[in-house]
Amino acid sequence: MEQKFIIEGGRQLAGEIGIKGAKNAALKIFPVALMTEEPILVKNLPEIEDVARAQEMLAALGHNVKKLSGDACEIQYQSKRCVNLPAELVNKFRASIMFVGPLLATCGEAEFPHPGGCVIGAGTRPIDEFLDGFAKMGAEVAEKENHYRLTAKKLKGADIFFKKITVTGTECLMTTACLADGTTILKNCAMEPEVSALAEFLNSIGAKIDGAGTSTIRITGVKKLGGGEYNIIPDRIEAGTFAILAAAANNGEIVIQNCRPEHLEALWVNFDKIGIDYNLEKNSVVIKPSKKRLAYGIKTHEYPGFATDLQSAYTVLMTQAQGSCLIHETIYDRRLLFTDLLTQMGANIIMSDPHRVVINGPTKLYGRKLVSPDLRAGIALVIAALIAEGKTEIGNIYQIERGYENIVERLRGLGAEITKM
Ligand code: EPZ
Repeated sequence: MEQKFIIEGGRQLAGEIGIKGAKNAALKIFPVALMTEEPILVKNLPEIEDVARAQEMLAALGHNVKKLSGDACEIQYQSKRCVNLPAELVNKFRASIMFVGPLLATCGEAEFPHPGGCVIGAGTRPIDEFLDGFAKMGAEVAEKENHYRLTAKKLKGADIFFKKITVTGTECLMTTACLADGTTILKNCAMEPEVSALAEFLNSIGAKIDGAGTSTIRITGVKKLGGGEYNIIPDRIEAGTFAILAAAANNGEIVIQNCRPEHLEALWVNFDKIGIDYNLEKNSVVIKPSKKRLAYGIKTHEYPGFATDLQSAYTVLMTQAQGSCLIHETIYDRRLLFTDLLTQMGANIIMSDPHRVVINGPTKLYGRKLVSPDLRAGIALVIAALIAEGKTEIGNIYQIERGYENIVERLRGLGAEITKM
């Protein structure tokens, strides 16, 4: 029987919540392990489904992931198993595409089905930026019925301009280029903090990468990489999500610990416009109940702009704000479809087109039986349920637990009435 969350809304939420290691930083260290035969110690690893999938993928490719105490693990090279990426894993999570480049760089070949795992892009999310980049570095790309086979004797450095800014595309080609012959220049790169954190780690094990965190990254190929320690940065999306929860509940003081407020400047400038009472410290944020909450629209944008991964939670907050605002989701085609579920809960939302909704607030929300359509919409529904009147059931909670560690216990710690059954 599929599990679901049962939430009794309207409770006072107050207290402290600690932020875990960033999912979108953690997923990228496992493919990097294919690039070296030395051990890698990983710390501050979030205990979430996607990380478990990434570890299974690495194990299938011949490495051992040894769980250490707490949130640490050690990745040990065992034997180079140049095999195809296991289809059942590739279909489960999109970040599996990150393993293709390192496999190509160290085995000279990689075979895999089109990655699945995310419903927020229209159709199957494209991988043309990856394939074009590998081809530019000298790989032969063969595709048959959504199955890909890549071969390359030796990858060589190339000049690559990303048609669309892609975080995993930037990270994958940056990593792969470390072992190519010669220099690779990547342009129109993603500038997310996770990209910079990955480059910093790669340089610590012998890579030569300049410019990560800017739109142009220069990688000088080296013969081999060593081993080292990767301390995963706090999850800025989790921190932003809980800050928005506090602003939406608006009935108690909430302290968000172990976070990096400087990674969320686009959220804080919006909080200023709404009138949220918050205070930033070096590694924490305090959110207090605010007298007024004015509607203020957003347009999602690559980092450092407003993160698309925070749009769903912010949309829920806007149902409680005074006035009308436009939410413009520029990155994904289907990420606003979940607003239909908020309308069922009582929100006043008009969809102008798949990328834009107008929200009129404030409206009272009522508990409903819902199903989580994707990871970030799922946590947004949890926020809506926590502030709604009455009981809400949320199904398909795999799409929430794959990105938020121990979410039931942590929300209970704030006073939420939430159970998993
Ligand atoms: C990363 O996805 C994150 N995932 C996403 O978080 C995040 O929403 C996204 O960056 C944007 O910030 C991970 O880091 C694992 P994309 P990424 O598919 O890099 C187009 C979450 O909720 N594109 O590159 O995989 C694509 O259509 C997830 O944690 C191509 O056209 O994002 C989209 O418009 C969701 N061709 C844009 O780029 C390609 O080959 C970005 O999407 C690849 C991408």
